[in-house]
Amino acid sequence: MEKLEAAMAKARERRKAVLREAAAPARKSALAVPVRSGPSVDWGTVPLVPFVAARARRFRISALFGGRDATPYDLLRSRALRLMQENGWKRLAITSPEAGCGKSTIALNLALSIARQKDLRVMLFDLDFRRPNLHKIVGHTPPHSMHEVLAGDVPFFDVAARISDNLVVGLNQAPGSNPAELFQSQRAKDILDAIQEDWRPDLIIYDTPPMLGSDDHVNLMSKADCALLVVAAEMSKLPNVDFCEKELGQLTKVMGVVLNKCRYPDDTTGYAYYE
Ligand SMILES: Nc1ncnc2c1ncn2[C@@H]1O[C@H](COP(=O)(O)OP(=O)(O)OP(=O)(O)O)[C@@H](O)[C@H]1O
Ligand SMILES: [Mg+2]
Repeated sequence: MEKLEAAMAKARERRKAVLREAAAPARKSALAVPVRSGPSVDWGTVPLVPFVAARARRFRISALFGGRDATPYDLLRSRALRLMQENGWKRLAITSPEAGCGKSTIALNLALSIARQKDLRVMLFDLDFRRPNLHKIVGHTPPHSMHEVLAGDVPFFDVAARISDNLVVGLNQAPGSNPAELFQSQRAKDILDAIQEDWRPDLIIYDTPPMLGSDDHVNLMSKADCALLVVAAEMSKLPNVDFCEKELGQLTKVMGVVLNKCRYPDDTTGYAYYE
């Protein structure tokens, strides 16, 4: 019996090592540079894809430089960081009831806002494998996709791009097949764990699919420590918001609900208050 347990423990260790290898940068990658420095990945070796101002304006990415336009995201950042630090949460999923509520826009703005704090390292993954969109906003299509990474077919380094020194994104080149099954797999979970262990970010943000479009979120949320529900004013239906908030609460910790696309912003808060 003891022998059997020892053999199983050994097999588990071997499996973990294989998965870590899959998630770690490829040593013989086309870049041919050493990608590890010590026990964690050297972020400086990740290809840089800077986000330019013209693109930011076009895609409503207002948290790039700070200032008045970044205020809503900076407020969200401070509250999210405080809650996550207090609770020891590292992975934040951003979801919504229906499509088009602004998840990807908010995910990238929040990541950029956090990355303006130079002592924090942030990762942002596009985990919407049915209609991946984040690469279009970022303006960078990687040679492989995050779903290939989670399937164990491609090392994360081959997908990773660096927007700034402390912000690394994992995007998709194209949609993936069977995302719900992929999110359910132990392999995907182990690879996400291994990426977190190797890359050592302070925080990982997941851009995820809308909850009412598929069952992807059911298994995906178990890989997040907490979630934000984005609802769009004059678009999201109240029963849908209620339903999704309750369901999300059964799957992970709900950090809060963000009301997006509101046509009547409150000018008594944020920078406007000081003018
Ligand atoms: N606060 C806002 N005000 C007006 N338009 C917005 C706002 N936030 C996002 N949008 C716009 O809404 C559209 C959808 O945004 P986005 O792609 O971020 O949504 P999504 O929830 O990720 O969509 P999907 O479910 O298809 O992935 C985009 O054209 C985006 O620029
Ligand atoms: Mg999106």
